[in-house]
Amino acid sequence: MGKSKGSRSYLNPKLPIGRRIDDLLRRMTLDEKVGQMCQYSGLSEESETWVREGKVGSFLNVVGAEATNKIQRIAVEETRLGIPLIFGLDVIHGYSTIFPIPLAMASSWDPGIVKRAASIAALESSSQGIHWTFAPMVDIARDPRWGRIAEGAGEDPFLGSAIARAMVEGFQGSDLADPNTIAACPKHYVAYGAAEGGRDYNTVDISERTLREVYLPPFKAAIVDAGACTVMSAFNDLNGIPASANRQTLTEVLRGEWGFDGFVVSDWNSVGELVNHGIAGTAAEAAKEAVTAGVDMDMCADAYRRSLARLVKERKLSIKVVDEAVRRILRIKFKLGIFERPYADPGRSKVVKSKENVEAALDAARRSIVLLKNEGNLLPLDKKISSIAVIGPLADDRYAPLGSWSCQGDPKDVVTVLEGIRSKVSAKTKVLHEKGCEVEGSSTEGFAEAVRIAKDSDVAIVVVGERGDMSGEAASRASLDLPGLQEELVKAVHGAGVKVVEVLMNGRPLSISWSAANVPAILEAWFLGVQAGNAIADVIFGDCNPGGRLPVTFPRTVGQVPIHYDHKATGRPPSEERWTSKYIDLPWTPLFPFGHGLSYTSFEYSGLKVERKGKGRAMEVKIALKVKNVGGREGDEVVQLYLRDAVASVTRPVKELKGFKRVTLKPGEVKEIDFALTPEQLSFLDRRLERVVEPGTFTVMVGASSEDIRLTGSFEVKERIAFSEGRRKASRRRGINQAR
Ligand code: NOJ
Repeated sequence: MGKSKGSRSYLNPKLPIGRRIDDLLRRMTLDEKVGQMCQYSGLSEESETWVREGKVGSFLNVVGAEATNKIQRIAVEETRLGIPLIFGLDVIHGYSTIFPIPLAMASSWDPGIVKRAASIAALESSSQGIHWTFAPMVDIARDPRWGRIAEGAGEDPFLGSAIARAMVEGFQGSDLADPNTIAACPKHYVAYGAAEGGRDYNTVDISERTLREVYLPPFKAAIVDAGACTVMSAFNDLNGIPASANRQTLTEVLRGEWGFDGFVVSDWNSVGELVNHGIAGTAAEAAKEAVTAGVDMDMCADAYRRSLARLVKERKLSIKVVDEAVRRILRIKFKLGIFERPYADPGRSKVVKSKENVEAALDAARRSIVLLKNEGNLLPLDKKISSIAVIGPLADDRYAPLGSWSCQGDPKDVVTVLEGIRSKVSAKTKVLHEKGCEVEGSSTEGFAEAVRIAKDSDVAIVVVGERGDMSGEAASRASLDLPGLQEELVKAVHGAGVKVVEVLMNGRPLSISWSAANVPAILEAWFLGVQAGNAIADVIFGDCNPGGRLPVTFPRTVGQVPIHYDHKATGRPPSEERWTSKYIDLPWTPLFPFGHGLSYTSFEYSGLKVERKGKGRAMEVKIALKVKNVGGREGDEVVQLYLRDAVASVTRPVKELKGFKRVTLKPGEVKEIDFALTPEQLSFLDRRLERVVEPGTFTVMVGASSEDIRLTGSFEVKERIAFSEGRRKASRRRGINQAR
């Protein structure tokens, strides 16, 4: 520190954090306080000057130990109070060791592997001076046109909540002050995934019931259950009040109902964009709206720096609002131990891309692959097969597997499908390769060669899909078909009379109806990260028996969107009868349902027992069954438990996921699977939006997907169970959708 430390008690790590904050806050000028609330991207001469003046609290996109240390040194050693910066970065699915994209990781239905991936991302990024990731994205997404569906865990609040918890636990570990952990930031709060028409940044208009039952639960899981210490406010308009100016969600729900004591950062310029939304006339008005709603840190709008101090001086904004925001930011800086350990330790760099991390990325990739179809058990292939044609624009592509938000991922580290196959097959196997066409574009020049090598081979593996940048932010698509001429390529290769295995790389469900009807084997590989090619080859040749399951429904065509398994029954559930809820030109079922995924072995379900014990809030429903591997090889089954509340005072979904377990079984092995349901898991919001369990029958469905239900049972609830959610009452009375 430049000046003598004197008796600055905020620097004493032995004091309780509350006292350190009080002491520091007392010493800060208004400008320094506002400074803590400002975040900038990358370094510039101007921002370096602001750091020197104590007017910056955080940076994002400053990368590498050297760069973070350099600017941190200015903050710590050259400013009046020496308050360290907090460095944030989009560490979404790995830092340098890139793991599968989040949608793929969710396909593993394995929170353990998700947690491990997040902890490795934390280990690598923290070694480079990063304290904070803008992850996990916990937005429920039911519209595959929305490119950001790739960044989340899919369509279901229960699975989404489990993955959200696992990611936060992985990033934050059990001790935020541990140098190997980083702060998590669930985003985008809230309902960003419900954008009209799937167009990114678009308006969201949903009921409070849908908000509370579908979009809020994964945030609650990340924040209340797993203790995420920051939250990002979203870009979207939510029922007329933009999410970054929404006091009901940011203050009443987040802090009032959930007791969140971390800080909220805006999304990139989402404070400035309040002007575009038309709820603020100027950047100053936008800043005031956002800060009073509960946005503590302004990411890159520069609206807080330019206006907050003036607003306070003109008595248009209470200093208490600023003080509270600064308190929250400082609290997290203290909790993370940044005051004690402001710098990255260059000695820790060896953790980046370690052998162990790369092995974990391979494991995660293997567990994320979903076998969509396997007619006649075409897969797995024999490694001694005499010839293989590896075709398609993504077969030897080392960019796509990194997906969007690939952080410090390096395409050079990516193992392509072609490379994975080459290193797997016998020395005698002839492996031929031809791209055939590009992902987009209209040239068929490569078709003839693709067909020729297919004819010359025992099997053709066609790797098609999307480029990595065709999903993620600002990457919504109006079509869900394979882009460009790829479907034509698949048809041409199929027409050559060879057996075809289609490998999909994509960041969203694709409407591959033709392939689903005609191609015998289809693997959903998403974007699997640096070890993509090895993982895919492991599955193709049977070194790994696929056990992933879809976390999102695949529509037959874009016209079916939105389509999700937990829909309502309607008054006229779809049937062959004409006057029912469906399209006249399409079956009402999806192409592949939520929870779907095949294996190289098969499983038998038996012995369902359902037992309800106890009363009221102490009630418990125990569900037990047996699963047996009745096939010839070891494999993983994801046992899925769905419930239906048969009759209630408000309409309930036809089924809702309430439990799942991924288990590994040897041939002939039987495992007992059990679930215990709490009253909370049976509850819903009644007509007054009170959380209740109503008496009546619940149907229990256990199966291998949301459509492949193997066992059914039921139980009765005898009495009404009410949940008094204390602090929630006030905001509920006012209604989330009402103006302040
Ligand atoms: C905008 C994106 O919406 C958000 O997800 C991301 O974390 C920020 N930019 C920072 O890069």
